[in-house]
Amino acid sequence: MKNTVSTLLRQKQEGKKISMLTCYDYSTAKLMEEAEVNTVLVGDSLGNTMLGYPDTIQVTMEDMIHHCAAVSRGVKNTMVVCDMPFMSYQSSVYDAVLNAGRLMKEGHANMVKLEGGKNMCPQIEAIVKASIPVCAHLGLTPQSINAFGGYKVQGKTEKDAQQLIDDAKAVQEAGASMLVLECVPAALAGKITQMLDIPTIGIGAGNQCDGQVLVYQDMLGMFTDYIPKFVKNFANVGEIMKEAFQNYKREIQEGTFPDEAHSYQIADDVIERLYF
Ligand code: KIV
Repeated sequence: MKNTVSTLLRQKQEGKKISMLTCYDYSTAKLMEEAEVNTVLVGDSLGNTMLGYPDTIQVTMEDMIHHCAAVSRGVKNTMVVCDMPFMSYQSSVYDAVLNAGRLMKEGHANMVKLEGGKNMCPQIEAIVKASIPVCAHLGLTPQSINAFGGYKVQGKTEKDAQQLIDDAKAVQEAGASMLVLECVPAALAGKITQMLDIPTIGIGAGNQCDGQVLVYQDMLGMFTDYIPKFVKNFANVGEIMKEAFQNYKREIQEGTFPDEAHSYQIADDVIERLYF
């Protein structure tokens, strides 16, 4: 059965944790579907992990649509959330609705995600009015990295924590169906989760959120440019891939690959009658 906004809300109400992973391509999406992950996020982190950018600022609508459409083709029951890239919604409410619509129509997303609190409520309200579910994102919001001056834990002081609480209430009020909390002290994320009706998904926000998300290359040890404290390595796939690449290279050099089992045959008498 397709995971939807209602499924995730029910999971919160029943105290069943929500699993989310980032995903950017068809084959990985199929594996996540088979693993019965509840929801996949086509995050603008694809700028870092797939495209090699230093941050998410350069990611375009075309990048997001391209990857989201690929992921959508790989899933049936898994809900697809797609990030709105930098400047696709901050510029105006009109741009926000138009671009959210493109992610749904061309990327086949089931929900869009945008970064911001009270300042983005007009955009959230308008997108929701257009019948597009919205996931808000608070705490460390990577698109604001230049304003933050670095990747830092958010909401540690009384003033910042209160701001986070007020923003969380505001996005729920504006119609958001889900909230990602990134790099927020665990106890604060726990209290916000209790306070809200909508599910919270934590990343570096402790285990009291209604669900968790990780960047899949991080949890598989495939992306080592920068490893945040909150990342847990669930398998050393990066090492396994490197070893496989080395073995492949070695077998080519030794002439043991491809062997007969991996080659196509032709009858000897046919080959003998040919002119070379
Ligand atoms: O882009 C992304 O991967 C995200 C997660 C870190 C929540 O927004």
